Amino acid sequence: MNQALLSSLLVGERLGRRLECYPALASTGDRARELLDQLGPAAHGAVVTADRQTAGRGRMGRTWHTAPGKSLALTVALWPGTDPAGFGVLPLAAALAVQESLAETGVTALLKWPNDVLVGQRKIAGVLLEGRFSGDEQHGLTLGIGVNVSQSREEFPEEIRDLATSIFAEAGAVPELERFAADLLNALDPLLAEALAAPASVVERARGRWAHRVGQPLTLQVGTARREGRFAGVGPGGELLLETERGVEAVHSGEVSRLGPGGAP
Ligand code: BTN
Repeated sequence: MNQALLSSLLVGERLGRRLECYPALASTGDRARELLDQLGPAAHGAVVTADRQTAGRGRMGRTWHTAPGKSLALTVALWPGTDPAGFGVLPLAAALAVQESLAETGVTALLKWPNDVLVGQRKIAGVLLEGRFSGDEQHGLTLGIGVNVSQSREEFPEEIRDLATSIFAEAGAVPELERFAADLLNALDPLLAEALAAPASVVERARGRWAHRVGQPLTLQVGTARREGRFAGVGPGGELLLETERGVEAVHSGEVSRLGPGGAP
């Protein structure tokens, strides 16, 4: 990533005013965490990118593969103040920004709750929010975003080959990485502010962009438990509304392990 070029393309008020682009890091999340620990609130909005991650992290303790020069891996450091109301929708704001920047490349993507970005049934991008808290006090959050950019299908590790896709695999062309990253960050800047000030309006914005359809059967993994029900929408705090025989229940974290019939084609 050409840091000077990316910097010149950023138009947002906050994001990327401090920008660090590395050829390789263990994880961009680790460097963003260091910035938060060193700078405290002054790190808010700092962006770290890496062309290659040697220990990229995904949700649920999974590994995230960042193919050298073929993926976008970035983390935004956030010090969002004390009101935690909007924290839960920060990843959704990121997924929406990814979806909007993908549209600029000709790729139509949908969101899989809570914050995966899919093309059809294949994942093209993921978001990871990590935070440090002591009691009610937060010491900064890191919002990591990984997008598959120019891998061909064969280049994905075998275990995810049938589950993953990239901009190149979908659109047949590769965007300039700096332009794509700038579009993403420029879309994310106002969305993050909106998520913190008015979380429900970010959820409202996502309406109609989910891969799930109301009434669609879902299987959810919540910790070690499996939950079954039907998609009944997403609540104002970003929680999944699951219709079961006991009524509509709010699920705050977990993973949709199966999209039943009626979901993304
Ligand atoms: C997921 O869908 O499991 C989340 C994937 C998040 C990957 C990004 S890449 C940039 C940042 N650094 C990491 O180690 N992980 C996130």
